[in-house]
Amino acid sequence: MSYLPFEQSGSLRIGTVDFVSPDKIEVALEIEAPESVALNAGIPRPFPRVNGYLLIPVDEGFLVGQIEWLTIERSAFPKRRGMQDFGLVDLPYPLRKLRLNPLGMLQEMEHERFVFRRGADALPSVGDTVLMPTESQLRSIVESGEQRRVKIGSSPIAGNAEVCVDPNRLFGRHLAVLGNTGSGKSCSVAGLIRWSLEQSTQQNDSEHPNARFIILDPNGEYSHAFDENESSTHARIFRVNADSDADKLPLKVPLWFWNSAEWSSFTQASTRTQRPLLKRALREVKAGRTGVSEATEEGKILALRRYLLSRLNSIQNDVHSGAIQDNSTNFGFKLKAIGDDIESRHRDLPDYGLDEIKNEIDAALKAEYKSFRDKKTGEDVEFYRAFTEAQANSIVSALQKSLEQLGGTINYEGPSEDVPLFFKGTDFADHLEVLAYQENVSQYLDFLIARIRTFLSDPKMKAIIDDTHDITLDQWLKDYIGEDNARNGCVSVIDLSLVPTEVIHVVTAVIARMVFESLQRYVSLNHATLPTVLVMEEAHTFIKRYRDDIENIDAATVCCQVFERIAREGRKFGLGLVLSSQRPSELSPTVLSQCNTFLLHRISNDRDQELVHRLVPDNLKGILRELPLLPSQSAILLGWASELPVLVKINDLPESQRPRSEDPEFWKVWTREECREIDWDAIAKEWQREPRHEKKETANDQESSRDDSNYENEDDLPF
Ligand SMILES: Nc1ncnc2c1ncn2[C@@H]1O[C@H](COP(=O)(O)OP(=O)(O)O)[C@@H](O)[C@H]1O
Ligand SMILES: [Mg+2]
Repeated sequence: MSYLPFEQSGSLRIGTVDFVSPDKIEVALEIEAPESVALNAGIPRPFPRVNGYLLIPVDEGFLVGQIEWLTIERSAFPKRRGMQDFGLVDLPYPLRKLRLNPLGMLQEMEHERFVFRRGADALPSVGDTVLMPTESQLRSIVESGEQRRVKIGSSPIAGNAEVCVDPNRLFGRHLAVLGNTGSGKSCSVAGLIRWSLEQSTQQNDSEHPNARFIILDPNGEYSHAFDENESSTHARIFRVNADSDADKLPLKVPLWFWNSAEWSSFTQASTRTQRPLLKRALREVKAGRTGVSEATEEGKILALRRYLLSRLNSIQNDVHSGAIQDNSTNFGFKLKAIGDDIESRHRDLPDYGLDEIKNEIDAALKAEYKSFRDKKTGEDVEFYRAFTEAQANSIVSALQKSLEQLGGTINYEGPSEDVPLFFKGTDFADHLEVLAYQENVSQYLDFLIARIRTFLSDPKMKAIIDDTHDITLDQWLKDYIGEDNARNGCVSVIDLSLVPTEVIHVVTAVIARMVFESLQRYVSLNHATLPTVLVMEEAHTFIKRYRDDIENIDAATVCCQVFERIAREGRKFGLGLVLSSQRPSELSPTVLSQCNTFLLHRISNDRDQELVHRLVPDNLKGILRELPLLPSQSAILLGWASELPVLVKINDLPESQRPRSEDPEFWKVWTREECREIDWDAIAKEWQREPRHEKKETANDQESSRDDSNYENEDDLPF
């Protein structure tokens, strides 16, 4: 090569090519080539080293190869290069060989300035010289790529060259951060976000960036990582029961945000009878039909229908349970109250047979009424004797007749069931009951409705699903995604650690979907995307592969499907996905296959290793063999955001900026280095207090409990 000083190229020469194929090149090392540390390339550098880079001059530049393996071969006649060193005793000599994976071409643009690009247009031939790259060549290989905007670490095998990424590439086509627990995933994710924000702040003349990061954080690790005062990296933190913590906001995912798929999966509604009705109830309740003012005729009718229906159910229950006989006095007074209500409603709505009901009630009451004077107190005591089933049944049939007169199905024109329009949970349950009755399918919906009512009245749920009209849709979007110009900050951390297990999948699905759909709407209104990054930690629980042949899909599946949709379509709407997981083999293959960049930390499990091996092309697999050996904070960056797979030592994140996931301190507590006082009394009191807010199990327990904990009495369910 004319542009390399002869002496230098001579000193960098370490071997010759002795086998060439398009995907591998074998090199015989010279005897004089360094054995552990190379001193000939400027500064000392480990050589030869697996995954290190070598150059082979071809045509107009150098072919760059990465060392895949090294070996020693015993050769019979190794030393014979020319006749001159043909010694007297020709002993077999250990000959070192190595295999290179061709990666791309390095070309010198001007003196000492090189450009690397992937792919090779010419291959070397046997006998060609193999060179060690100089310092600047090595840097050019690792520091290749056009937009090196954010520095994330350095590459120890390439002379500590800076590893930089282009956020457009890193976040634009989804990133998967994979690795064992403790390998540094969360720190890397927090670092990527922080360094991206810091760099763009700098670029922006210190004005905070117009960026949006939404972190879904099931372990509650991230709230400390972004809590400083710096405006660009200060996060809004949302968590359940935030009242005790002034700098956190209460996590709200109103139930009126849920779409019909989410409702169906959560309530485990069966496809045939329950889902259609559930959808219709949602549609109608969202159309405000149930909330129609009672001043109007329509409102009155709807209210009356709800009223009659609930009374009907209640009387039937009392018949079945025997209360009409055992508890007849109570039942009598209940009938009396119903009679009074009906009488007043009859005045408003004379045409629906209410007088008939009233007559039946009065007749029954009259037949069983008794009173006597208590001699001791001198007061009149009223009571009812046992009622007969016949009496109850005639009241029931009068109620049914009246309900029929109130009208059959009314089809409303209205919004789709999936539009987030406000409604009250109890109205929804009531309305569902009305529909079930109208359609004559009450027996199929009783359990479903009961389940919804239990859910609505559970204080743990109430805290999250909030059906007071306190939160409006636009306020929620401002809080959770970010205000115009990112005025309220660039990061929001959604701490899911206290969300009850029964709803955690639905809640996560709703948040992810709301983010996605709002960005979709942004695009259709503004004809430009609003770049946003959604981070999902512990992705194997939320984006878990599922069987698609199951008829009634559960909440975990619905959650996974939302992420699959984001993975497939997010890019069009500026939504980038970052997922972090320690069990890549359990992740949805659809989502993984849409991730174009991978940051791989230590992976020791066979199945997970196999999986990542399948993600990379053959000639790049070599570097992945290091996966089980990587120390924490080191990772392999490969894919779209990196011209070449590189081994990165991720930048140091100071203690205060790291996500916290501390392991329990057995030793320090045992040895009393750390103090732990126990007050079971206080715990017992707090435990038994109503309503109680239970803390969710830790991430590891969730696995086992989550699957079977959706409903307490699964056995009771008819479907
Ligand atoms: N970039 C980093 N800077 C500083 N420490 C790190 C870094 N990456 C990992 N660590 C160390 O490794 C530990 C585990 O990292 P973490 O991100 O919690 O792992 P994971 O999320 O994979 O379980 C951290 O507590 C920290 O001490
Ligand atoms: Mg972690």
